[in-house]
Amino acid sequence: MDTRLVFQDAATLATPMLTVFAVDSSTGKDSDPLPTLLTASSAITSAVSALLATGEFKSGLCETLLVHAPAGLAAQRLLLIGLGKAGSLTVDELRKGAGAAVRFAKPRVIRDLAIVFPEPLTLPAQLSARVLAEGAELAERDYDTYKSEPKDKSVHSVTLIAGANNQAAIEAGFAEGLILANGQNFARSLVNEPGNILPPTTLAARTKAMCDEVGLHCEVFSTAKLEELKMGAFLAVAQGSEQPPALIVMTYTPAAPQVEGAPVIGLVGKGITFDTGGISLKPADNMEKMKYDMAGSAAMIGAMRAIAQLKPNVKVVSVICSAENMPDGKAYRPGDVLTAMSGKTIEVINTDAEGRLVLADGLHYAKTLGCTHLIDAATLTGACVVALGNHFAGLFANDEATWQNFQSATPISGEKFWRLPISPEYREQINSAIADMTNTGGRGGGACTAAALLHEFVGDTPWIHLDIAGVAWNDEQKPWIAKGPTGMAVRSIVEWVRTYSQAN
Ligand code: BES
Ligand code: MN
Ligand code: ZN
Repeated sequence: MDTRLVFQDAATLATPMLTVFAVDSSTGKDSDPLPTLLTASSAITSAVSALLATGEFKSGLCETLLVHAPAGLAAQRLLLIGLGKAGSLTVDELRKGAGAAVRFAKPRVIRDLAIVFPEPLTLPAQLSARVLAEGAELAERDYDTYKSEPKDKSVHSVTLIAGANNQAAIEAGFAEGLILANGQNFARSLVNEPGNILPPTTLAARTKAMCDEVGLHCEVFSTAKLEELKMGAFLAVAQGSEQPPALIVMTYTPAAPQVEGAPVIGLVGKGITFDTGGISLKPADNMEKMKYDMAGSAAMIGAMRAIAQLKPNVKVVSVICSAENMPDGKAYRPGDVLTAMSGKTIEVINTDAEGRLVLADGLHYAKTLGCTHLIDAATLTGACVVALGNHFAGLFANDEATWQNFQSATPISGEKFWRLPISPEYREQINSAIADMTNTGGRGGGACTAAALLHEFVGDTPWIHLDIAGVAWNDEQKPWIAKGPTGMAVRSIVEWVRTYSQAN
């Protein structure tokens, strides 16, 4: 899709569909005002004033109203999109509004559309332009990838049309938005792939090709390197599969030399390309969804793509631990005791708790590579889905300042996280009689006991753990995005990394 920016009077733009946002200022009284169009163009306002006066269009979030042949405009159609309450408008609602315009066009085979940059502006211009570009790009994707005769519902172009104000800020934000959405869409395209098409080696090959394209350093290793590094936990998970594991290390080095003691950010991803549960086999119902058990690694790979293009002044290393968790004569078993790279030992209670095992080695390895701040993302526990549903990801942090940095990134990203506890009681739940710890923690607090295991391998290094099991996949489409992979956490991770960008 060609997503572009023009500065011009929206009334004079010839386009199949011109989109204008509207907000609702009502308070529930009889004297309530009608929805307000966010445009400075009086031609657009008069084209729909009689229609708005009917009160039919309430301007709820993603509510739409289409007008054909709007009087006085060069556009063939005018689409109104509601953004909800005027007083509480957020950047995320604006992002969703842009997405809703593209999703509206798709089934109607409207190939080209324009979006009027909202005025008067209640949100910063740069951020507004950024989220509009993001929303449009994210909405264009559909995941009917393997249909032999797909219906072509593609949108060919989206034109953001802005006036004379804030042009430099709008240009900068627009360019950022395209980069972030491309990173997120790259992650989504990886998560979308089934286990047969994307085993660990293919995940690695696609990552390497992406890195070559954007100028990131990328090394790919397999079993021999894991053995050399003594990654006993990661190796155990991989050993039941015919597919060899992949350890992927991406490095972003900023152009400016880094001073002694400058932060090095480590992004660690769970990359289980298919999770059967292993010998502790999962039930058949919904097992097909376990192709998305590499969504944490996809988030990191997508984030690295965006980081390479946004070029923050901070070094970033990403460690991806990819394997397939299979039952087999060679598979690891319940009762096995594993020695992780750090030297700590883990008694396996359940081979389906495999994500924490690969991450244990990945996190420790990232520390040995010099990372001073760590973040991991993983579809780690069903317990997190039970706790938070499909709306919030679970977040764990062992350091308040690091958590604050992450918190400051989320109003911009629009992604929702809820902090869950790290506490000694959860660590006690994974005490083992025979080894340093078990890999499961009994009945309660499954997301917290998983985090407690990861914490063992992070120690005091400032660290954030994101459990994205409930939010990496949309079971239903939304007005602004298709069903399927969400690309959750890419935007927040990139934004968090940027908080460490050093002043020149
Ligand atoms: N990949 C799963 C977690 C998961 C479950 C993700 C449902 C998305 C939806 C993970 O490897 C797993 O199987 N976890 C187990 C841990 C248990 C055995 C302690 C779980 O959550 O059931
Ligand atoms: Mn599992
Ligand atoms: Zn898993």
